[in-house]
Amino acid sequence: MSPSSRITRLALLLTVILSTAHTLLSQNSPPQSPSSPTQPSHTAPTFYRDVLPILRDHCEVCHRSGGIAPIAFDTYDQARRYAAAIRASTQNKSMPPWFADPRIGHFTNDPSLSTAEISAIAAWIDANAPAGDPHDAPPPHPWAQSWSIPRPDLILAMPRPVPLPPSGDVDYTLEIVPTHFTADRWVQAAEVLPSLRANVHHAVVFIRPPDSPWLRHAPVGQPFTAATLTDPEDRRGAHWTDNDILLVYAPGSSPGQFPTGMAKLVPAGSDLVFQMHYTTNGTAASDQTAVGLIFAKQPPTQRVLTLQLTNDHFVIPPGAPDFRVEARGTLPNDALLLSFFPHMHLRGKRFEYNLIHREINIKRGASSPDLAQTSRTINPIEPLLRVNYHFHWQMSYILAEPRLLKAGTDLQAVAWFDNSAQNPHNPDPNASVRWGEQTYDEMMVGFFDVAVAPNLDKHAYFHRH
Ligand code: HEC
Repeated sequence: MSPSSRITRLALLLTVILSTAHTLLSQNSPPQSPSSPTQPSHTAPTFYRDVLPILRDHCEVCHRSGGIAPIAFDTYDQARRYAAAIRASTQNKSMPPWFADPRIGHFTNDPSLSTAEISAIAAWIDANAPAGDPHDAPPPHPWAQSWSIPRPDLILAMPRPVPLPPSGDVDYTLEIVPTHFTADRWVQAAEVLPSLRANVHHAVVFIRPPDSPWLRHAPVGQPFTAATLTDPEDRRGAHWTDNDILLVYAPGSSPGQFPTGMAKLVPAGSDLVFQMHYTTNGTAASDQTAVGLIFAKQPPTQRVLTLQLTNDHFVIPPGAPDFRVEARGTLPNDALLLSFFPHMHLRGKRFEYNLIHREINIKRGASSPDLAQTSRTINPIEPLLRVNYHFHWQMSYILAEPRLLKAGTDLQAVAWFDNSAQNPHNPDPNASVRWGEQTYDEMMVGFFDVAVAPNLDKHAYFHRH
């Protein structure tokens, strides 16, 4: 007998024993057939007691009325209607969406279900999806309409909506949104909320302090693209800036929420600059994206900066199934590493962040077992995150334990692209692919957030102390 058929036999045996136990123990439950290992109804998981808490904690952020998912699981009837799909998607782990290799790192925003939770959902459906007692329901989550963060203290929307054509490419569209802040404000949490979620491929909200020369001749409060600007400096600026980023958004991405004591600074008199990448989907429409802000209740002890590792000098050959592109940087000063946000386009396959340990101290005069020990434990490349990239799900990965990186630390981002015909998202496997804005071009950006001293801005941080 092969090991697998032995396991099957064992499982069958267990099923029979279990269902015999049911018939013995539960007088009132309907007779069980030996082939269906259903629980007796009085011990079966119920919706309100066992399943709703799982949906609340792991699914509702997207699956609620007003959420980003097309179906809502707010009520018993809704969840029951989709019971089979809920079981299938949790068992094959396509839901909740999460793409980090579980062997590397721990992340506070990992929504994955435990094996026990997956089995509880399956057992509930096997038992015919009983409702149970509504009094067992966990307290409802106080969602503030479509926001995933608590109710924002301030909502800043683009003053003018951006009209979108039914088809074709849309150049990066920018809109400058004045904050009118008369004092410096520390932002504890922020979320980007497009009015047309289906058309927003990604958005970056930049902070433009009043002394920044960036896009100074561009119009304020109305959409523009590089092509509509006349000043050459501004035109360049529409594509590239080193101003600090408040937040990066892509469908499914988490809002920016910083640990207590850490926040983003929006200096008095700053503007927010929304850089929008829209995609078209057959219907003309218009979008008016907003950002919701929650301010820190007291001045933070650390300031959060968004940095990035970027490589824009690659050419991916036609058909290449696993093309590697790397970017490296040395941190000029100490920083506390908080989170990652990898960004690629349709050929994105995998993305990693690593620490490169340059100094390997082999103990001198150590006996040979010691030496063997040393060489085993010192790996010059320490992985921090490995993402099996999915173009439709661009997410941030927030470290469960922020990591102090000393000045001089080398951080590496490595991206792999699949330009073969095997990649179902590939728009053209015969193309040589370079850096570019549109999704048929590629990008390689490893955003990451760090916390530094509260008086350091990005320029001061990069000036070595
Ligand atoms: C980050 C947002 C998000 C979270 C969290 C999430 N979903 Fe989804 N879900 C979506 C979106 C968006 C879709 C639409 C299809 C797609 O884009 O993949 C979807 C589709 C589905 C579908 C229908 C398609 C299918 O796979 O059969 C089911 C069922 C589902 N989700 C179940 C769940 C369950 C159960 C959970 C929690 C355990 C969950 N989802 C968590 C966003 C989410």
